[in-house]
Amino acid sequence: MLPDYDPRHLAHRRAPLDLLSPLREATPFAHNPAIGGWMLLRFDDVQEALRDQRLSNARIQSYAAHLRQRGEDPGPIADSLAHWMVFNDPPRQMELRLMVAKTFGTRSMARLQASIEEIVHRLLDRIEPAGQADLIADFAVPLPTLVIARLLGIPEADAPMLKVWSDEIALFVGTSLDIADRRQRAERAVLAMRSYLQEQAACRTIDTDGTLIGTILRADLDGHPVTASEAADIALSIIFAGHETTTHLLGNGLRQLLSHPDAWQRLVDRQLSPEDAVEECLRFEGPVNAVARVVREPHERFGQLLQPGERLFLMLGAANRDPRRFEEPDTFRPDRRDHRHLAFGFGTHFCLGALLARLEATTAIAALADRLPNLRLLPAEPDWLDSIVLRGMLSLPATF
Ligand code: HEM
Repeated sequence: MLPDYDPRHLAHRRAPLDLLSPLREATPFAHNPAIGGWMLLRFDDVQEALRDQRLSNARIQSYAAHLRQRGEDPGPIADSLAHWMVFNDPPRQMELRLMVAKTFGTRSMARLQASIEEIVHRLLDRIEPAGQADLIADFAVPLPTLVIARLLGIPEADAPMLKVWSDEIALFVGTSLDIADRRQRAERAVLAMRSYLQEQAACRTIDTDGTLIGTILRADLDGHPVTASEAADIALSIIFAGHETTTHLLGNGLRQLLSHPDAWQRLVDRQLSPEDAVEECLRFEGPVNAVARVVREPHERFGQLLQPGERLFLMLGAANRDPRRFEEPDTFRPDRRDHRHLAFGFGTHFCLGALLARLEATTAIAALADRLPNLRLLPAEPDWLDSIVLRGMLSLPATF
């Protein structure tokens, strides 16, 4: 009998698929008391659940209602998260998404390309002379943080602060299980980030502004112009969604590419397209291990009657290794052409930043292969995040 997958255990977070793959083969649906919910593990079932209207993303609203019932104040964190599109169902989610969708479309990305290249090369200029670097701290963390700052229109010097706040919020949003004061820390970070973003929103002339903060401030919500506080929460949700994910796509992806020297050499020789390589990195070990849903309508799944409020975890990482869907799923094949993985989700909540993440990752990997062709990992057992949702390392030392 397999033990329950529990990211608090070092061995489980080091290699979650050692448990989840055999479990996926043994059963499509398993209850896991350690994470407090049901896990769906097979590709077709996960894909179907991602568009199942009987499941809801409005987890924060039910959490806040539950606290109120107990006479507790849900506080600023629940209040802010309730404005995030990812924690809403349609039509509210669509309203929030359409407000900013253009900023993440093909044309905007084409305009952003030069900025991303400039940021990537600036980071490489900084690390190149040292001959070694931590690819997470020196490259994969600052890149998406600086890109989001550019997109939002806030000063670059403030980008590291956003990262600190966002990490504190991450302690609460479905990730770390073992930190006692995670709610308080996340609340402090939400308040600090809100007040910072409100200040930024207040000091902008919104008519001429081509930035994401400007776009949000020009929009309407519930029949009134978006307030600075609403704008701050919407911006906060995008900052949150967009940086840690991209960091760990780069980290996990570079670890795979550099652990397969043939693949790296083919990238250096330009025989392998960075676009194909990035898709295989997303499939093989993407940064989002799972997404959560709550049951909205009672229904039966695999003979189990599910009641409103029960939690489901859709295990994207395990689904992307399902042998029913991918040939040789556990082989890293960066020239694989089948890119229909679930790393960015599927359906209504499909990742709004998918084009941006792909652009950042392909630009970064192409530039690394060009400028540091003899990049090698230093032998070190990585520390993995204590998280149900995210899969990523705390550091990745390399030499070149
Ligand atoms: C490799 C990087 C990324 C991965 C793997 C990723 C993955 C995902 C996944 C799986 C979802 C669906 C969540 C759900 O169904 O509950 C999602 C949603 C979302 N992502 Fe990403 N993401 C990445 C990067 C980004 C970036 C760069 C941004 C923006 C700057 C972004 C913004 C969003 C937003 C706003 C949503 C919510 C969409 C909605 O609810 O309609 N993501 N992402």
